[in-house]
Formats: sequence, C-alpha cells, structure tokens
Amino acid sequence: MEILDSIEAMRAWRRSLPTNVRIGFAPTMGNLHAGHISLVDQAAIDSDKVVASIFVNPMQFGANEDLDAYPRTMEADLEKLEAAGAAAVFTPTIDDIYPEGVDHHTAVEVPGLTNVLCGASRAGHFKGVTTVVSKLFAAVQPDVAAFGAKDLQQVLVIKKMVRDLLLPIEIVTVPTMRESDGLAMSSRNGYLTPSERQLAPHFSQTLANCAEAIRTDHSAIETALEAAREALNAHGFKIDYLEARKTFDLSTATSLDEEIALFGAVFLGKTRLIDNRVISSS
Ligand code: PAJ
Repeated sequence: MEILDSIEAMRAWRRSLPTNVRIGFAPTMGNLHAGHISLVDQAAIDSDKVVASIFVNPMQFGANEDLDAYPRTMEADLEKLEAAGAAAVFTPTIDDIYPEGVDHHTAVEVPGLTNVLCGASRAGHFKGVTTVVSKLFAAVQPDVAAFGAKDLQQVLVIKKMVRDLLLPIEIVTVPTMRESDGLAMSSRNGYLTPSERQLAPHFSQTLANCAEAIRTDHSAIETALEAAREALNAHGFKIDYLEARKTFDLSTATSLDEEIALFGAVFLGKTRLIDNRVISSS
C-alpha cells in the first residue's frame, strides 16, 4: 500500500496510473473501525484500486468542539487499510490543505440541506465538510466515492454538491455498521465512560422502536417522536434533535408518501452521538 503524505505525492501516484484504471475513494478522519473499512470494501467492488484518506479536518470542527481531543491512531489505521486491500492512503498535512489557514480559504457551501439538523446545531460544520471533500476529490480524482449512511445528512449534502458542481464522481452510500448491541460505530464512541457505553444502545433502540411505530401507523409520526423523546430523556440522554424528515430534501415529514428518515443527535455526558433510521414510503 502506498502512503501518500502530500498533495504532490498523491498527484504523482495518480498520474502514474493508466487512464482506464477506475479509482474508488473512501475519505475518513482516521481512528478507523469496521464502518470505515466497509466503505473501503464497497469502493473496491465499484473500482479497480481504492484510495482511502485520513485527515482530521479542522474546518469542520466548531470552536467548542473536539478537534484537539479527536482520536489519532495512524499506525493502527494504516494496518487496517493494508489488511482491507487499499492500494493507497492519502494523509495530507493541515499546511498542505490549508496553506494560508482555514479562515482565508475558499469555501464550498451547499445551501438548504445544511440549514437543518446537524447544520443547525453545528454552525459551519458542513461548509468545512464540503470544502475539504472538494479538495480531496480534486487531489484523488476518484471515479466513485463511498460515504456512510450513519451520516445520512452528510451523504445528501455531498450528493448535491457533486450534482451542482458537475463533478464526474459517483457517490455510493454504505449501510451503517453497528456494534452487536445496535450502537452505530463511531470514532466518538471511545469518549464514552463504561456506564455511558452501557446506556448508549438505548439511543439506536429508541430510534428503531420509533421507526417501527411509524411503519405500523403512518399517521402517528409526531406521537411516535414525542414518545421517543420521552424515552431518551428517561434514559439520561440530552436531546440535540430528534426529527422525521424526507430523505429527498430534508423537509419535515408529515406523512409516508415519500421516503422519510428519523434523524437523532443526543449528548451522553460530553459525547455527542448521531444516528438515523430510514422508513420507506408506503
Ligand atoms: P469520519 O467520521 O471519519 O467518517 C468517514 C466515513 O465513514 C463517512 O462517510 C462516515 O459516514 C463513514 N462512517 C462512519 N461511521 C460509520 C458506520 N458506523 N457505518 C458506516 N459508515 C460509517 O465523515 C467524516 O469522517 C468526515 O466528515 C469526512 C467525510 C472524512 C470529511 O472530513
């Protein structure tokens, strides 16, 4: 596996490949778990060679968020990517990506979809995501890129960006990988204390129960959401949001005429967890 630690090295490797080689891409911030590796596996199905990237992107973290604490485990990550069969890993430095600093950088912004859910609670987050993903796309030049359904809003935002900017890249969505107790795998799960970790699966379970209640009674979206909010509060979660929205445009869901999803973000102690459940239209 090639380790490409600069934009220059990335571009040189990319130029060395025959033009008919199809490149799959799995962008990450490292601290890799099985969910990340499933992106590499999916990208491998859809391409000839897979590039993964590891870059903890300062532009997508708010001032009071966990940029400094974010787990960095490069050695172990490289081993996992090698075992997964990645052809190359792109590990640019912050200076390489933001030579004049984050505040003086051109930004890529997707309107609309980024005003709600995580976009409403984390000001500037998606601007950081779309800006860095644009740069990673420009450096890697993939034919196909894999993103996780765990961050469903992020996938929708990236898909719109690719459509709007005419980027010749296919975006594939990979199902959420969960621990055996249902908790969605996340690099942030490592922040949980042992007692919080025991409580955490109630989050995914409550979303699953809420989705089931809505599937059973399509007219009961608001009632089911209210019951889920009460259950989460009772288990000691602090709710950031719990909402039902159309997956098409993230507008509020009032019926099941179109596919909808339950989107949740909660705090367990200091740790912010997100999850979602898609409910197909009737
Ligand atoms: P990160 O949180 O490291 O996640 C990288 C990719 O892995 C994302 O597409 C995310 O949705 C996916 N992923 C994370 N947990 C998953 C799980 N349990 N199952 C399936 N996929 C999962 O998302 C980011 O980094 C950044 O915003 C990034 C896109 C790299 C831009 O900086």
